[in-house]
Amino acid sequence: MATEIELFPSGIDPKKLDARPVAHVRFATGATPDPLFQHVMERRSLKETFDTTRTVPDDALADFVTVARATDAQATNLATQVADLRQLTREALIIEIETPHTYKESVDLFRIGHKEVSTNPDGIDFSGPVFEAMHLTRTFTRSAALDASSVAFREGVNAVLANADTAMAHLWQVTAQNTRVDQIAAGRDWMRLHLAATRRGLGVQPLSQALQEYPEMTDLYAQVHQKLAPGGGTVQMLARLGYGPEVSQSPRWPLEAKIRATG
Ligand SMILES: Cc1cc2nc3c(=O)[nH]c(=O)nc-3n(C[C@H](O)[C@H](O)[C@H](O)COP(=O)(O)O)c2cc1C
Repeated sequence: MATEIELFPSGIDPKKLDARPVAHVRFATGATPDPLFQHVMERRSLKETFDTTRTVPDDALADFVTVARATDAQATNLATQVADLRQLTREALIIEIETPHTYKESVDLFRIGHKEVSTNPDGIDFSGPVFEAMHLTRTFTRSAALDASSVAFREGVNAVLANADTAMAHLWQVTAQNTRVDQIAAGRDWMRLHLAATRRGLGVQPLSQALQEYPEMTDLYAQVHQKLAPGGGTVQMLARLGYGPEVSQSPRWPLEAKIRATG
């Protein structure tokens, strides 16, 4: 289907979203299929460590500049720059975890064990045999995760830092302005970039902590902008790239839970 998209058809409050529609989308037949579409079902956010023996070749990064439509997409596999961004994304993760209000926001979204995941198939899922066992033995609970002296907390922190530390390349996108329309364009381009990586067999994990706008992150927010958008603009997304294990799809709400059919 072809889509004709009109953003904020009833106007917009630039400061916050309200009850007005975000978009009107009109579907029509007769579209030319986008070559990226065939990779939709394979795309995953890959939240596992990457293979540090496999470098990302230059030609795998070359696609990105061509698939982005509205944002300036850039990628690097230069060892010095990757090391620098590993360090920056690691520090940002530590700030997010050590800042009580941002860490609690994540813990509140933890879904621990298959029952919680299937009841609320969104948030941060901890399922599979290891988490199931930890859930049953009560070694991994939301309160254990909040207790910085617990094993669950330490192991969790080590796992997320190991992800940042095994980045083999990085990908980011910049927009000149930062309006709601730019943000939506960035999201749409992000999907194209991620699909282009999937087409190349490259794993992708967004690491968006340094891009968040809260006081404790101010310093790293400035640093990431200085490094990745030296000419100005907003870094809309930053991700690590590499080769990792195959993982299953993230849990999803069924379509009917989100889309209301009208006559
Ligand atoms: C704006 C944005 C920021 C994100 N930041 C992170 C992140 O910092 N760490 C992470 O593991 N995943 C991040 N994600 C990925 C989501 O967790 C992921 O899209 C979600 O789990 C659904 O999985 P899927 O992409 O495999 O469908 C981000 C996604 C978006 C859209």
